Amino acid sequence: MHDETSDPRPLSVQATGLSKSFGATCVLHNVDLDLAAGEVVALLGPSGCGKTTLLRIAAGLLLADEGQMQIAGRPVLDGSRFSAPPEQRGIGMVFQDYAIWPHLSVVENVAFPLRMRRLPGAERKQRAQRALDRVGLAHLADRFPGTLSGGQQQRVALARAIVAEPPLVLFDEPLSNLDRELREGLALEIGSLLRELGLSAIYVTHDQSEAFTIADRVAVMLGGQIAQIDRPEVLFANPASVEVARFLNIGAVIKGNVYGEHGFTCDQGRLSIPSVRGVAPDGPAQLLIPRMAIRPDPSGPLTAQVTRCQFQGDRYLLHLELDGEVASLVCSADTYVPVSSKIPLAINPDRLRLFPS
Ligand SMILES: Nc1ncnc2c1ncn2[C@@H]1O[C@H](COP(=O)(O)OP(=O)(O)OP(=O)(O)O)[C@@H](O)[C@H]1O
Ligand SMILES: [Mg+2]
Repeated sequence: MHDETSDPRPLSVQATGLSKSFGATCVLHNVDLDLAAGEVVALLGPSGCGKTTLLRIAAGLLLADEGQMQIAGRPVLDGSRFSAPPEQRGIGMVFQDYAIWPHLSVVENVAFPLRMRRLPGAERKQRAQRALDRVGLAHLADRFPGTLSGGQQQRVALARAIVAEPPLVLFDEPLSNLDRELREGLALEIGSLLRELGLSAIYVTHDQSEAFTIADRVAVMLGGQIAQIDRPEVLFANPASVEVARFLNIGAVIKGNVYGEHGFTCDQGRLSIPSVRGVAPDGPAQLLIPRMAIRPDPSGPLTAQVTRCQFQGDRYLLHLELDGEVASLVCSADTYVPVSSKIPLAINPDRLRLFPS
């Protein structure tokens, strides 16, 4: 990771107070986002939360109503007063529908951003070949896009996005049209390629594992706002709200009441929880029971109902329902457990999180 104190490079992205409405609908609400040089941030959120809108504003394809933005230290946006056009922002883009040009060969497609920068022909060709080599397509340089598979076409788009080694690369669900296996492999490759080249990137996805594979930090976007931005481990250990915990499917959230410093009463009975000092006074609250916090145990204090028992080769994966929270918890078992049966669970209290009701 990058050390801010010793690195003289400016932040690769510094955005403050970005807001955008379409008609009466506010789609982005006062969004701040900073990326260190060389950092990869994933924007992860449900459909319609504003991910593409934010990315299009960063790209210069859409005007914001309010907010400022700098890319690599250069102002590119100042409210509705100033917005640098896309070609002056020097960024690379790989969008789901940001098609490569069918009438240009693969190598010409990749060299295109260098042509925009008026680099000499020989250098363009050499750098385009190198970028193609990096994405494993050197052998297809003279083919035309129409003769390539979907995965190969996205690699061409990737090569084109990185060929000029821009200060920032924007990705909008680049892998969503590809099948699962291809997606996982390419996600890993994109992550290592960005790191190898030291490029900063904003990577939009609604696939959690893709976000965790690629990004240093993940920004969970909900309803036009960044609800939390942290390393994946921190998101899971300390979700900022019940909404973040639910979106990430961290576990079950049950309603109950806090009493004293360590007590929580709910339909399940009385649970012992870590100190709630400063979190919630006596009274109604919500308790997050992360899936990692539970395990089958005959003397455990929780009871859950099995909703599905899935054979996994060497053991069974149980999907559990706890107080009506369907399938948000899973645990493994050595033997088959019939659906609808109830099983006792032990909890690791250190992993429990409490939220105001
Ligand atoms: N040009 C537009 N005019 C009107 N509404 C728009 C426009 N572009 C986007 N919206 C609305 O803004 C909201 C956010 O859209 P956006 O495309 O940013 O979502 P998203 O997070 O990228 O979703 P998805 O995961 O489905 O791609 C949606 O409700 C969408 O309908
Ligand atoms: Mg989108």
